[in-house]
Amino acid sequence: MYGDDIASVLITEDEIKAKIEELAELVAKRYPPDSPEGDLLLICVLKGAIFFVTDFARALPIPTQLEFMAVSSYGSSTSSSGVVRIMKDLDKDIAGRNVLIVEDIIDSGLTLSWLKRNLATRNPASLEVVTLLRKPDALRTPVDVAHVGFDIPNEFVVGYGLDYAERYRDLPYIGTLNPAVYS
Ligand code: XMP
Ligand code: MG
Repeated sequence: MYGDDIASVLITEDEIKAKIEELAELVAKRYPPDSPEGDLLLICVLKGAIFFVTDFARALPIPTQLEFMAVSSYGSSTSSSGVVRIMKDLDKDIAGRNVLIVEDIIDSGLTLSWLKRNLATRNPASLEVVTLLRKPDALRTPVDVAHVGFDIPNEFVVGYGLDYAERYRDLPYIGTLNPAVYS
């Protein structure tokens, strides 16, 4: 698949699976069953987090509900500017709910800190973040992320939901792209 486009496999399918089970166990402990806030509400940030959220929701041993949001940050195709626009908003009110934002990757952290501020104004009972991947740059932004799957080097990665020009999302692993692809 995709010929020589993938330079290396950074995280294998098995490693992703094991990490998701670990994260699910940790996250579930934070949300007691039958809480007055109702089922945990997972907010999947489209499109990158789609594969992660479906595997994660099925690994969680607690009931969850699923909502989607799509945001786009202005900037080049491989870096974000922090100016965010909502492309698709939530369909439901989140006031009084336990909300967990499910992200694929935190790079500068600008998109996520904007999103957290936006959702906080809607008065959820709690608001936390789980991300599969985080790049070292994220450490420069004061954005509180409760759960991180993998810290990865500062390289552009694709697969398992992550794209370059909408391609490679369907790869079952996380890989780095051959520079020839974007030059
Ligand atoms: P910031 O910098 O705001 O960016 O934290 C977060 C969003 O940027 C995208 N992003 C990537 N997408 N491979 C990708 O396919 C990457 O290596 C990468 N780094 C950042 C992604 O959409 C993320 O939500
Ligand atoms: Mg993208």
